[in-house]
Amino acid sequence: MTLSQAREKLEKFGQSHVLQYWDELNEEQQEALLAQIDRTDFAVLENCAKRGHTYPRGEFAPMKTMELPEIASKREEFAETGREAIRNGKVAAVLLAGGMGTRLGSDNPKGMYDIGLTKHVYIFQRLIENLLDVVKETEAYPRLFIMTSEKNHDATTAFLKEHDYFGYRSDRVTFFMQDMAPASDYDGRVYMDSKWQISTSPNGNAGWFSSLIKAGLLPLVKEEGIEWMNIFAVDNVLQRIADPVFVGATIRAGVEAGEKVVRKNAPDERVGVVCLEDGRPSIVEYYELSQEMMDARDDKGEPAYNFGVILNYLFRMDALERIAKDTLPLHVVEKKIPHMDENGQTVKPAEPNGCKFEQLVLDMIHQFSDCLPFEVEREREFAPIKNPTGVDSVESARELCKKNGIEL
Ligand code: UTP
Repeated sequence: MTLSQAREKLEKFGQSHVLQYWDELNEEQQEALLAQIDRTDFAVLENCAKRGHTYPRGEFAPMKTMELPEIASKREEFAETGREAIRNGKVAAVLLAGGMGTRLGSDNPKGMYDIGLTKHVYIFQRLIENLLDVVKETEAYPRLFIMTSEKNHDATTAFLKEHDYFGYRSDRVTFFMQDMAPASDYDGRVYMDSKWQISTSPNGNAGWFSSLIKAGLLPLVKEEGIEWMNIFAVDNVLQRIADPVFVGATIRAGVEAGEKVVRKNAPDERVGVVCLEDGRPSIVEYYELSQEMMDARDDKGEPAYNFGVILNYLFRMDALERIAKDTLPLHVVEKKIPHMDENGQTVKPAEPNGCKFEQLVLDMIHQFSDCLPFEVEREREFAPIKNPTGVDSVESARELCKKNGIEL
């Protein structure tokens, strides 16, 4: 992109300040800035005005979850189907590790966080140890894709290499990077990280499939005969990955997707809740739940919207390819965005100061024609680390690890 093309593009989106320091930059910096202007989608910034708005939703209805007693009664048959799929290389795991983990407040990628007390127990280590249980059970190494972002890619890859992938086979690990979106103030004016760098943040965890395709990994997926992708978050240190019982139950249900869910601990718990929306599977965010939905009961007298997702999904490849071109809602999220101020100094705000733009994997659920909500025991499989202390924190996750006999 030439300088005049860059000027034109920035003017169109009201972002001409990006070139404010052009004359002060050296050749390399100028080149880097032009390349970044070229690849940045400034159109998303117009959505700043929509922050706090929710998308129009369809008609919600309760959705049936496969609950623990039913799973217990069919456990062995599900596990056998799952193990066979894993042994035949049909199941891959996809770790979503592109997030910024701002709430945790560490400068390193979240997976490098050490939750150990008497020894090192890194979050990445915990996840890989969980996956190694399946390796032991099936004698197969599911391909492990790890999504990073340009903000944490080098640190993540170097860390895992240094730790020898915590015992996972390195030739079964494949990294790819997700796309970035610009970050702006509340008026949609993009922030600058430095005189030659536009402030960006990862474009949300729904970007994982398009980024995997962009990284040229689809041929590998086909070559290896991968039929199912198990997507999971970096922060739940107890989750079971490529869990044969979940895989088997989803395959046997003949559906396009499966989602691990936990029984909510309060009607207003801050989790996305499984439901039907206009007859299709969907997830309603906790802030979209009406009082009427919170009070609704099923025929057994149980809350009708009682199961929350834990960001552990199983997606069938053919369905993923079908929905790949669909547009998902864009979420405008208020965040603390470090940036360069008018005096060229870096500012680390204590309070949210602008908008980031994200598409979320939970919105993908509505694109599938069917989905199996699969209950897991929250005490055994749900220990998310979002904050240093309090709810969903290092502290609460440590407690849960101890309860599950994991030495820290
Ligand atoms: P969170 O919603 O907890 O976001 O991500 P986060 O960025 O990690 O943390 P905060 O909100 O800044 O504190 C849930 C999962 O989705 C991944 C995260 O790495 C985590 O596994 N994620 C999130 C991505 O991979 N890419 C993104 O752009 C956002």
